[in-house]
Amino acid sequence: MSEGVAAAHDVLLVGGGAAGLRAAIAIAESNPSLSVAVVSKVYPMRSHTVSAEGGAAGAFAEDDTLDEHAYDTVSGSDWLCDQDAVEAFVQEAPRELLQLEHWGCPWSRQPDGHIAVRAFGGMKNMRTWFAADKTGFHMLHTLFQTSLKYADLTRYDEWFVSRLLVDDGRVHGVVAIELRTGRIEAITAKSVVLCNGGSGKVFPYTTNAAICTGDGMALAYRAGAPLKDMEFVQYHPTGLPFTGILITEAARAEGGWLLNKDGYRYLQDYDLGTPEPTPVLRSMELGPRDRLSQAFVQEVEKGRTVESPYGPIVHLDLRHLGAKLIDIKLPMVRELCLKYERIDPVKDLIPVRPVVHYMMGGVHTDINGATPIEGLFAAGETACVTINGANRLGSNSLPECLVFGARAGRAAAEYAASAQRPPPVVMQQVEDEIRRIDQMRRPERGSERIADIREEMQSTMEDSAGIFRSGESLSKGSDRLAELQQRLERVQLHDETQVFNTELVTALELANMLDIAETILQSALQREESRGAHQRTDFTTRDDTRFLDHALAYRDADGAVRIERSPVTITRWPPGERVYGR
Ligand code: FUM
Repeated sequence: MSEGVAAAHDVLLVGGGAAGLRAAIAIAESNPSLSVAVVSKVYPMRSHTVSAEGGAAGAFAEDDTLDEHAYDTVSGSDWLCDQDAVEAFVQEAPRELLQLEHWGCPWSRQPDGHIAVRAFGGMKNMRTWFAADKTGFHMLHTLFQTSLKYADLTRYDEWFVSRLLVDDGRVHGVVAIELRTGRIEAITAKSVVLCNGGSGKVFPYTTNAAICTGDGMALAYRAGAPLKDMEFVQYHPTGLPFTGILITEAARAEGGWLLNKDGYRYLQDYDLGTPEPTPVLRSMELGPRDRLSQAFVQEVEKGRTVESPYGPIVHLDLRHLGAKLIDIKLPMVRELCLKYERIDPVKDLIPVRPVVHYMMGGVHTDINGATPIEGLFAAGETACVTINGANRLGSNSLPECLVFGARAGRAAAEYAASAQRPPPVVMQQVEDEIRRIDQMRRPERGSERIADIREEMQSTMEDSAGIFRSGESLSKGSDRLAELQQRLERVQLHDETQVFNTELVTALELANMLDIAETILQSALQREESRGAHQRTDFTTRDDTRFLDHALAYRDADGAVRIERSPVTITRWPPGERVYGR
C-alpha cells in the first residue's frame, strides 16, 4: 500500500443505506474472493433509509400482476422512465422483498399469517409491503445485520468522501476524511458504487435528513459523469410544517382525509387522474404526489388554507380511523405528532404541507448501475436508472434500492474481477485534494457564513424551482446561485480542530449542494413543457414531440452546466393519458 492510502480494496461502496448494504451483500455473495468496503459519513444505521415509513412495492398478491405494477410506474412517471428498467424492476422487486423476509425483516402480516400489503398512491392494486410505518428502519436493520455475516466486509464509518480518484476515464477509488481524526486519505478500489442518497437539503422544507446533501451526485458530476433528469423534484404532500418530518402516505392509504380550512375534502375539486375511486384506490387522497402537491398550491391561491408560523397548511384527518388502527398500523405517525407537534392524531387534526421528498434525477446509469465513467456505478436515490421519470410512485424507492443496489453490486464485482490496480499517477490527486481542503480553512478567505449561504440557496430553490416554476423564476434563481457560488469562495471557517470538524464537513456539503442546485435549475429551464413534478406556468402542457427525452447535465471545464438530451426507452407502453383507478 502506498503512503497516503488508508487501504486498497476491490470494490468500494460509498453509502451505507439500503442500496449500499444490498450492493455489499450482492458482491460478497457473487464473488467472496473480492475485498469489499463500505464508506459512509454516518454509521450505517443512521442512513436516511431508516426514516422511510410507508412501505415497499412488489406485485405478489393473487389479484395483482407484474404488468400492472409496470404500467402504474410508467404512467406515474408521465412516460419519462425507461421501460426496460421498469420491467426488470417489477420482476425483481417481489423476489428482493421475499429475500428480506428470509433475512429476518418483520413484514406486517394478515390475520392468517400471510404477508400484508396496503394501497399506495397512484397504484391500482394493493402491493405495498410494510412493517407498520417503520418499514425503512426494519429493512435497514435486516440488511445491516445480514452484512455482518461477511467478515471480509470492511467498514469506514464516519468518513466523508470528498473526491473521486479518476484517471483516463476510469475510477480508482476516493479521497476521504476520517472524521474522528481529520486525516485525509485515499481509499483505492477497482470499482466504486455511489449509493449515498438524495439531495433534498437543497430545499428549505424537506422530509430528508440533514445528511441528504447530494454528495454522491456532486462527486460523479465533478468527475465528468452526467446527472440525468435533475429538474424532477418530488414534493410529498404531507410533511409537518417547519421540521418537514414525513407523515407517511400510508396514513391516507389507511383512510386519512385532507381538509382545507373549511374542513372540506378539497381534492374532489381537482383532476388527479383518479376518475372513480375503486375498492383499492379508495380515495382521492391516494392520487399521485405531484398532483396532490399542485392542488395544495391552488388551494393557497384560493385562500382556502390555514395560516401557520411556517406558511400555509392544510389538515390531515385520521380521527375517524380510531386509536386501535392507528396504534397497529401507524404507530410512528402518532409518535411523531405527539413528539414534534404535541398533538394526538386520535383526536386532533395534523397540520401538513407539501415538502421536498425525493429527487427523481441523479447520476446517469444503465440498467446495471454503470455510469459513463469506467468502474463507477451508482444505485438508490443517488442514481437515475431511470424507473421514476417525471414522478416516482410512493413505495417504489425502497425496492429500487434493493433491485438496483444488487444489480450495481454484481456489475461492480464483475468489473473489479478483471480491472487493474490504480496507476501511481492518481496519488497526485490526493495531494491536490489535501491542498483544496487546506485552502478552505485559510483564515484570510473572507467573512461569509455557511449558514447564510445555505439558507439563501434553499429559499432561492423554493422560490424559483418549487411546485410551479417559470422561465423567469428559474433564470432569476440561476443568477442568484451564481452569486452564492462566488460567496462560497469567501466562506470563513472558525473551527481549526481536526477531530469531528463538522464545520468543514458542512462547508463541503454546501459546495456539493450548490452544484446540484445549478443542475436542477438549468435542466428545468431547458425543459419547456409541464410533465409530472416539473410544472411550468409558461409551458403548461406535456410536449412529447420536443421533450419525450432525458436531460443530461454535464459540468463544463469552466464550471458551467451543459445540457444534452437522450432518448427515453419505450418497450410496451406508448405514451398515453395519465389516469389511475381504472
Ligand atoms: O409516505 C411515505 O411513506 C413515503 C414513501 C415513499 O416515498 O416511497
